[in-house]
Amino acid sequence: MSTTRKVALVTGGASGIGLATCRRLAADGFLLAVGDLDIDGAADAAGPDGFSGQLDVADEASVEDFVCAAAQRLGRIDVLVNNAGITGDQSATVLHNTPVAQWDKVIAVNVRGPFLLSRAVLPIMIDQGSGHVITIASVAGQVAFPGRSAYTTSKGAALQLARSIAVDYASVGIRSNAVCPGMAHTAMTSWRLDDPELRAQIEQRIPLGRVASADDVADLVSVLASDRLHYLTGAALVIDGGYTAL
Ligand SMILES: NC(=O)c1ccc[n+]([C@@H]2O[C@H](COP(=O)([O-])OP(=O)(O)OC[C@H]3O[C@@H](n4cnc5c(N)ncnc54)[C@H](O)[C@@H]3O)[C@@H](O)[C@H]2O)c1
Repeated sequence: MSTTRKVALVTGGASGIGLATCRRLAADGFLLAVGDLDIDGAADAAGPDGFSGQLDVADEASVEDFVCAAAQRLGRIDVLVNNAGITGDQSATVLHNTPVAQWDKVIAVNVRGPFLLSRAVLPIMIDQGSGHVITIASVAGQVAFPGRSAYTTSKGAALQLARSIAVDYASVGIRSNAVCPGMAHTAMTSWRLDDPELRAQIEQRIPLGRVASADDVADLVSVLASDRLHYLTGAALVIDGGYTAL
């Protein structure tokens, strides 16, 4: 089915920032293609008009199949939101204590994932002569998070991937920007933020005095995905309540 509505493909849309982004982009009028390991959550996020499916962003065949099916069903892909990400389990801490398998997993989801998705979607955007790749990196891609070596490394790489796409595809009408949230309250961070003492310690260090909600980050994605800001590409947009300004 081909459509005149703009189409956004969101990875990791079943939870947290991805889910808030899906709700926001749907309210903005986008048709959604939502892929996640959580197939039921992806279907809820995509809504009745959208397309959803099980997706492992680290798996080449899964990505190719999902992108091909989404493009066939919805006719085009205007915006790709590379959102799916993980921090690794509690063993993924300082470098010398990080199990190799945890390192590989974090890099696979947070770096290979955006690479595979972008690699599959860019030819469609080239054919359209337009498109926008929005990658959810992190302030951990700009400053190091203590005790999170694999995550910090992966987000630095995701940020550079976003810049690399901006430089290589500007001439064919495709833009690429990274969003760098500070701490946001989602399933990823609830083990710390649900503890009032730990939350207070974290919020004390943030000039605006609170962690972000998933909606705070989705608001920025919505502005980026809109028909404005046409001159913006290769940017790393920090949304952290002032955390990295201190
Ligand atoms: N929460 C924060 O404080 C924070 C801060 C900065 C950046 N981020 C980034 O924002 C993005 C979303 O994080 P969140 O906090 O919403 O996390 P979340 O855990 O709430 O949601 C992540 C979603 O990604 C999905 N996912 C995980 N691995 C996947 C895979 N291999 N393939 C497909 N889907 C997969 C999960 O099923 C889940 O639905 C991540 O890239 C994260 O690194 C989060």
